[in-house]
Amino acid sequence: MIVGSGASGLSLALALASELRVVVLSKAALTESATWYAQGGVSAVMDHADSVESHIEDTLAAGAGLCHADVVETIVRHGRARIEWLIEQGVPFSTRTSKSGVVEFHLTREGGHSHRRVVHAADATGRAIEETLVERVREHPNVTVLEHHMAMDLVTTGKLGRTPDRCIGAYVLDLRSRRVEAIGARAAVLATGGAGKVYLYTSNPDVATGDGIAMAWRAGCAIANMEFVQFHPTCLYHPQAKTLLLTEALRGEGGYLVLPSGERFMPRFDERAELAPRDIVARAIDHEMKRFGLDCVYLDITHKPRDFIIEHFPNAHEQCLQYGIDITRDPIPVVPAAHYLCGGIVTDIRGCTTLPGLHAIGEAACTGLHGANRMASNSLLECLVMAEACAEAIRTQLADVPPVPAIPPWDESLVTDADEEVVVSHNWDELRRLMWDYVGIVRTTKRLERARRRVELLRAEISEFYSNFRVSGDLIELRNLIQVAELIIRSAKKRRESRGLHYTLDYPEVDDLNYRRDTIVRPGDFS
Ligand code: FAD
Ligand code: SIN
Repeated sequence: MIVGSGASGLSLALALASELRVVVLSKAALTESATWYAQGGVSAVMDHADSVESHIEDTLAAGAGLCHADVVETIVRHGRARIEWLIEQGVPFSTRTSKSGVVEFHLTREGGHSHRRVVHAADATGRAIEETLVERVREHPNVTVLEHHMAMDLVTTGKLGRTPDRCIGAYVLDLRSRRVEAIGARAAVLATGGAGKVYLYTSNPDVATGDGIAMAWRAGCAIANMEFVQFHPTCLYHPQAKTLLLTEALRGEGGYLVLPSGERFMPRFDERAELAPRDIVARAIDHEMKRFGLDCVYLDITHKPRDFIIEHFPNAHEQCLQYGIDITRDPIPVVPAAHYLCGGIVTDIRGCTTLPGLHAIGEAACTGLHGANRMASNSLLECLVMAEACAEAIRTQLADVPPVPAIPPWDESLVTDADEEVVVSHNWDELRRLMWDYVGIVRTTKRLERARRRVELLRAEISEFYSNFRVSGDLIELRNLIQVAELIIRSAKKRRESRGLHYTLDYPEVDDLNYRRDTIVRPGDFS
């Protein structure tokens, strides 16, 4: 059973389906995922002037001392093969013709990369990958797809009073009929993506509510590095735009970040200027906005030829036009927004979690690739490589897995329909705002403590609601987001230094002596 239909879940389904029967659960339409919205591309060493060693070195540098070097090496080394696999599946990556007439991949450049190594499909790479994989999965006879089915909680033998503990399936809410079913599985995989919706402003789609991380936590799994939330520096600032990311490739192809006066400010913060790693760029924007009391800064690529901009960024051009901004002529108003969760469910390099029978891959997992800060376009790479590694692990482990015991049906005998749905919508808004205000790009111990107290109140309220009323999609997501918020806050409080994406005014320096290590938390740690 694979929960999630982004790049990681669908790649895994295809890798397993030649030998096994697979069910893929997706809580919305199959294509709805962060993957679909990915723009920049997938990093991989494809150019002879580049090298695996250089990609490894850049990843380690961005990760600020917390990447697991063995994991970085394995994932980077497999990049090229995974791109070739995507091409076999039919993904139409952008190409160019070299001076000698050879057709080769057009590679773009993004922050932290010392070479052009981002393979892309114009500026809508995720859509090209997701649509292709969805097509392959839908035509495969061994894959059953259950759209609009939301996994609510994992079922473990431990919860049924048996030993040894292992995951045997999940309770799943059919969002259309509102019925809960139990699905048993010999191997379960969480490919549920990130949790951007825990913040008021995010580049993430609505499905990014941290469900997999919260479910794994409740099932007893170790979770790591939740304090490292990546804020993408450039999301469109416009009253009517819910979320629109302006790809880092715009800066990779020469775009500048400027103040309303037109003055560039990044060279004052870092010698790599607009192509410094994201934590540095996002903090610099936050600093300038606070210093001048600005609502936004501007991303300006108007000095490049109009045809070049439209050829490379057709998606950004078209989408911004809908808001009255012509990126070939107008600087684009931008602000940072929550984008990527570096932490997640602890796994090894095969996607195995600390609970037998349960695997996790993609953004929901924490393999050690990203450390304290993910380098641009390394996420899709991780999704693809880890899907393949996890398929191999499942294939080899399955022979020893005992038959799945009967799972008791979901008990709804003691609940009624909710009397006041406003509790869910109000708490959802409150949570996202308090996370933005108190647990954002720049933190302090006092702000984190404030956030912790408020999240505890929300948790108590929603826990009571959950026990008394019939479940709904919104309620399940809010319960999970509150859990994720608590994990972010508690992990941030534990790290009394500033490193990578975690920056606190109370401890502004790196403290290698005490904190050059992952923040690993386990259920029971906070009681
Ligand atoms: P996702 O693609 O997010 O898929 C998660 C799936 O799980 C969805 O199908 C969702 O419906 C399902 N799901 C979640 N909870 C449940 C549940 N309880 N029950 C059932 N189903 C559930 N990374 C790059 O490397 N390069 C880029 O260019 C890039 N650009 C990005 C641009 C944007 C706007 C965003 C938001 C992210 C970008 N990223 C990029 C990050 C990258 O897209 C994601 O990290 C990656 O796609 C995650 O893939 P995934 O398979 O782990 O999860
Ligand atoms: C982007 O295109 O800027 C996003 C790339 C990423 O998040 O890896």
